[in-house]
Amino acid sequence: MSGYFYQEHSKTCDPDDYWGQVKRTVNGKPVTQDQIDMIVAAVCDGIELEERDYLLDLCCGNGALTTYFFDRCRGGVGVDLSDFLVGIAKERFAKRPSEEYVLADALEFVKTVDRPERFTKAACYGAFMFLTADSATELLATLRRRFTSLSRFFIGNLPDRARAREFFRADQYRPGIEDDPGSPTGIWRTEEDFIRLSESAGWSVSIRRMPAAFYAAHYRYDAVLVPRPPLGR
Ligand SMILES: C[S@@+](CC[C@H](N)C(=O)[O-])C[C@H]1O[C@@H](n2cnc3c(N)ncnc32)[C@H](O)[C@@H]1O
Repeated sequence: MSGYFYQEHSKTCDPDDYWGQVKRTVNGKPVTQDQIDMIVAAVCDGIELEERDYLLDLCCGNGALTTYFFDRCRGGVGVDLSDFLVGIAKERFAKRPSEEYVLADALEFVKTVDRPERFTKAACYGAFMFLTADSATELLATLRRRFTSLSRFFIGNLPDRARAREFFRADQYRPGIEDDPGSPTGIWRTEEDFIRLSESAGWSVSIRRMPAAFYAAHYRYDAVLVPRPPLGR
């Protein structure tokens, strides 16, 4: 099942260990604040997040990252299928009535949520690769079709298939691991694979790379999706 790894892992962490719960760690230690700041800057810049925006954060985990985005807009909805992580998000990060955290599968949510047109921007950070290939395709197409006001969608921290062999130590690699959404690193896609997938669902894509000082810059990339044709045409 997609997302199973994080559901099980997060429960083994201290409730205060927000970055440990979503495995944002280097050598087992939570990443430093400057790394978080780089992620927040990349996402907010990528989707041009503004005060008036209403954000959908898919696979939001414990809300520790989402809360930075909500601080810069009107609010929105974070969705995740881990009851443990959504519990932390609701308890510790929901600051205003306009900030909601929902326990749901990302695809089910986008297929069924009421008034999808209220969302103006969307993000999915560090999680898209845990969706099965079919769910990823359907999610992109459903967002494009139902979310008629969505002008930008940031999909972040995607593992680059072209760098997979450098990432896995020889003793960790097993054939097929790059295609397994249930593995700790999910599905690895090349930039070209990702662009093809998104374009076939009706999006234009720009690929972005994090600054070299970002801890995962050497094997991950981000993507900014814009509806094609652009909204309003
Ligand atoms: C590495 S964490 C990232 C959390 C958060 N976006 C962040 O960057 O801090 C991956 C998250 O994806 C969630 N997830 C995986 N598959 C999912 C699905 N199908 N629907 C909703 N959430 C999912 C997991 O529960 C987990 O919280």
